[in-house]
Amino acid sequence: MTDASFIIVAIDGGAASGKSSTSRALSERFHLLHVDTGSFYRAFTAELLRQNVATDHPDAITSAATALQLDTAIEGRRAQMKINGRVVPDAEIRTPAVNANVSHFAAVPALRQALLEYQRGQADVGRSHGFRGLVMEGRDIGSVIFPDADFRFFLHADPVERARRRAAEGQQDSITERDRLDQSRKTAPLACPEGATDVDSTHLTLEEVVDLLSSHLATRLAPVA
Ligand code: DC
Repeated sequence: MTDASFIIVAIDGGAASGKSSTSRALSERFHLLHVDTGSFYRAFTAELLRQNVATDHPDAITSAATALQLDTAIEGRRAQMKINGRVVPDAEIRTPAVNANVSHFAAVPALRQALLEYQRGQADVGRSHGFRGLVMEGRDIGSVIFPDADFRFFLHADPVERARRRAAEGQQDSITERDRLDQSRKTAPLACPEGATDVDSTHLTLEEVVDLLSSHLATRLAPVA
């Protein structure tokens, strides 16, 4: 189903670059479905770790990943992945073990393939729940998942500032190591897609970043909040 009034906003960037806070704020301001694809890779990682699948066994990863039944639950404006009928809670996907392994699983092409159509399908989920569009954040949204998105942004910030933000959230996360792995993988590496709007948030507040992106979206859609 195509619907010209349903807008797609792609936000890519490295770990702790401000994607989630920005996407959440935009979803409220414009009544968009918020889709955090990092949480999908994290949910897969938590499930594969639970099944004792090793990161260096691509065949085992492929068969385990393709056997998972995927569905979506909507919580507020956020899309949450259901694996085999169960929402994987935040407490299970933001652990040090998931932080340490997610980039290794995310580098396996078959795992990315298993998530591709599911991610694109979030547009239909958004439409069927009455949203005016979706804002999807990740690493390859503007390059692979929705290269024709109405708006494509790439957020980055100084690594010292990003580490400070993660620590302020009380999280133990090796941001630069994850970025290195995400940038150097062969399939869908983290990079600013050609034609995307590049935003350096190092010296901007969250509100300033949200206002900046909102000014782009407002050319197509009036804010609701
Ligand atoms: O956004 P995040 O930090 O929660 O993402 C966790 C990991 O998931 C990230 O290090 C790489 C992977 N990822 C990806 O490869 N592609 C995406 N579109 C989103 C996340």
